[in-house]
Amino acid sequence: MSASAPRPIRLGVNVDHVATLRNARGGRLPDPVRAARAAIAAGADGITAHLREDRRHITDEDVRRLRKEIAAPLNFEMAATEEMLAIALELKPHAACLVPERRTERTTEGGLDAAGQCNALAPVVARLKGAGIRVSLFIAADPRQIEATTRIGAPAIEIHTGAWCEALTQAHAAEAATEWERIRAGAQAAHAAGLEVHAGHGLDYETAEAVARLPEVVELNIGHFLVSEALFSGFDSVVRQMRAAIARGRVRAERAA
Ligand code: PXP
Repeated sequence: MSASAPRPIRLGVNVDHVATLRNARGGRLPDPVRAARAAIAAGADGITAHLREDRRHITDEDVRRLRKEIAAPLNFEMAATEEMLAIALELKPHAACLVPERRTERTTEGGLDAAGQCNALAPVVARLKGAGIRVSLFIAADPRQIEATTRIGAPAIEIHTGAWCEALTQAHAAEAATEWERIRAGAQAAHAAGLEVHAGHGLDYETAEAVARLPEVVELNIGHFLVSEALFSGFDSVVRQMRAAIARGRVRAERAA
């Protein structure tokens, strides 16, 4: 690769909300595995799915089918519970992303408190790593959480971009600027600490392009926006557009370097 060639950045498509739509009616439609197949055919690098404790969207059968029927890497989002650990160890996905889970939340609202839960998280991470599963912790871009991730022994973080995206949506410019600076500095600090840096939550074409400008970020996981847009344009079109947005961000990062 030449010095000016953009560093690759992976796109993981989260199909949780295809399952949300299916579950609204019961039955089998729309099928998240079909969405996963379409996303991969359109250029996604992998599929992400979150098996929640309450099974509100993705089900056990979905993750088993995703693992069996989709050859591309599966990033299994999971709470650090014994139940999920047992499923992950049986499923052996390419990757597992440990996320906090509260029954009452609509979505994963905050990052994992890696600093406060070091003792509980370290053995879970060790067992996943022992099974050859790449582990990331979904955390806020906070120096304490980044430092805790290195102590816990996870090789990667996923920076929670939700607060920044929400501030932009609400047109809270000062808050958005503060959140962006946190993400930028966090990506740098995590990379310097030897961690692989991923990002996700609330991203759309514009925000994904902006995050792709951060040279430390090598993976984005995006779901709700893509599923929403796919209702109007189809998975093929939205995944291709997202790939193009990410590529634009990456090229700008390289030019700025
Ligand atoms: N990454 C993680 C760890 C998540 O929990 C989620 C939401 O399930 C996402 C990425 C994707 O967020 P969104 O659906 O808002 O794109």
